[in-house]
Amino acid sequence: MTLESTFATRLNYVETSAIRELFKLLAKPGIISFAGGFPDASMFDVDGIKAATDKALAETAGAVLQYGATEGYNPLRTGISGYMATKGVTVAPDGLIVTTGSQQALDLIGKTMINEGDNVIVEAPTFLATIQCFRLYGANVIGAPIDEGGVVVDKLEALIIQHKPKLVYLIPSFGNPSGALVPTDRRKRILELAVKYKVLIVEDDPYGELYFDESPAAAAPVSMLALSDSVPGSRNWLAFAGSFSKVMSPGLRVGWLIAPPALLAKATMCKQFSDAHTSNLSQAIAANYLADGDGSRMAANLAKVRKVYAARAKTMADCLKAEFGDAIRFTKPAGGMFFWANLTGARGQSTDVAALAKAAIANNVAFVPGAPFFAHDADMSALRLSFATADEAKIRDGVARLGEAFKSI
Ligand SMILES: Cc1ncc(COP(=O)(O)O)c(C=O)c1O
Repeated sequence: MTLESTFATRLNYVETSAIRELFKLLAKPGIISFAGGFPDASMFDVDGIKAATDKALAETAGAVLQYGATEGYNPLRTGISGYMATKGVTVAPDGLIVTTGSQQALDLIGKTMINEGDNVIVEAPTFLATIQCFRLYGANVIGAPIDEGGVVVDKLEALIIQHKPKLVYLIPSFGNPSGALVPTDRRKRILELAVKYKVLIVEDDPYGELYFDESPAAAAPVSMLALSDSVPGSRNWLAFAGSFSKVMSPGLRVGWLIAPPALLAKATMCKQFSDAHTSNLSQAIAANYLADGDGSRMAANLAKVRKVYAARAKTMADCLKAEFGDAIRFTKPAGGMFFWANLTGARGQSTDVAALAKAAIANNVAFVPGAPFFAHDADMSALRLSFATADEAKIRDGVARLGEAFKSI
């Protein structure tokens, strides 16, 4: 008998992600990586976070260095309530809990909702960690097809009827990896499905603030949670995972969960057994930063981030078109951090993404093959490219290297 043979059987439902294996190769010096899912560290508002930290320790050291409430640090719960109000969402501070990243919110939903053998529906493709997390609880994960407007609602409805899922997990704003933005009418139709079929929708929204349209009228996409006011009954079937990772700092590990009271209570109970509470110091930093200049400090930094990411996305689109022509197909994202693309095989060219990934690493550039983002029936011609961390010169250089790698396969 080995120690391994005594591990919980639930571990058989998941495997180490192919992406993690790929990341080991990225330590190669000089490599240009479009593979990561990180925001650009040079865009963190270090001075702002430092001021928020100093304030937390100067004014509230006793509270922030102490154990705290599982539900979250009250000033932050109030802060998030106000932040959500600016996005058209009415939620009282006690209508949300603070989580250790939105990843924990997703885990708590899995823990609270999923029995072994339950069906859950996700987008095909979707965030790999969610597939793994739900599988760990024994879920049978079913992918719903997407197009450039995100999940295809008629197909989603057919899958709901067929599989009677416990929940439907969606990333409607600049999804990872799809980059897709679900239009408002689709969002409303999905909320109607939630009510009609009594199925929980989980809206994961870490990227909604990273929209690129810089016109004065531009605004964050309206979340399904905000739209739920216009679809009677839908709020009872909707959970929302929010995160400061992409708009403040992922290292703080601060996210939040908004859910119907009964679900929130059970998730809070499970969180208690999991990490007791999210770091009070992190929560106080987030609260102070959020409140800095009545939100103007974060807004100013975000405006800068949007501009930089928008320019990088444009450069990546232009370079991919120039290098690959009709050999690649993608929809230029209107926000977020990712391009989702397919090798088309036009004029007999290769669609072998695995071969391209290998040749790319040899030529000092990396991306993530799309296959692991599918729960099943992977599209082997798909790939994900992040434009968030490489500057425009690196994007030009990296896509040129990718073009050379493509010609070699
Ligand atoms: C779609 C999606 N959801 C959730 C997360 C988790 O984010 P965090 O736990 O940092 O809030 C990520 C991180 O990349 C993500 O892409």
